[in-house]
Amino acid sequence: MSHRLNKKTAVMALIGGVLIAGTYAFSPAPVPVQQKDHENNLQVLPKDISHDELMQVMHSYEVALNLGCEDCHAPSATEPGKLDFSADSKKKAIALDMMKMVQEMNTTYFDVKGDFKENYLTSAFKVTCITCHNGHAKPADRISIPIPKDWPGK
Ligand code: HEC
Ligand code: HEC
Repeated sequence: MSHRLNKKTAVMALIGGVLIAGTYAFSPAPVPVQQKDHENNLQVLPKDISHDELMQVMHSYEVALNLGCEDCHAPSATEPGKLDFSADSKKKAIALDMMKMVQEMNTTYFDVKGDFKENYLTSAFKVTCITCHNGHAKPADRISIPIPKDWPGK
């Protein structure tokens, strides 16, 4: 009798275990905790990017282009002296297009596949912001060194 009971208890425990495991397997992924300044209107970077990774990208833009946060991000409409990072601005829109261009150039011409964030943060991109910008908001569009006198055709 007690043997039968144990077996029954074991079977019930097993079914219970499977049910609990199933519930966990199908529960939705946890929603990432959001920072106050990270409103998440992200278009190219993943919406679950960590604050540290996001800041790594942003600080690298400052260096690559010699611009500050306030050059790309619009002032807050409600809090004077603060920036609204998720709001749209002309320069932010250009930067977003540049991110898409960088992704496309690398995929199409340099065989660097995968998403922007991973490739950018691991320096896997062959052509990236610094390649063209080299510390300037406007990259050079002409040769600035004097052309040698014996240059063909001169
Ligand atoms: C060259 C322009 C540029 C500079 C400089 C820049 N950002 Fe950004 N920032 C962007 C772009 C573009 C995005 C949106 C990226 C996307 O959508 O994938 C963004 C997104 C963000 C976001 C996320 C907003 C959201 O919707 O969740 C934060 C926060 C942010 N930037 C903070 C900063 C800070 C702080 C600095 C200065 C240290 C800075 N940025 C400098 C262009 C810039
Ligand atoms: C293949 C070269 C190239 C690459 C790579 C590139 N850019 Fe640009 N970018 C340009 C050129 C050229 C201009 C100037 C366009 C003009 O004068 O109208 C520009 C302009 C900009 C501007 C506007 C600057 C201003 O003050 O008007 C921003 C912002 C910008 N780029 C951000 C980026 C970011 C961020 C990246 C990397 C994700 C990037 N760019 C990668 C070529 C490039």
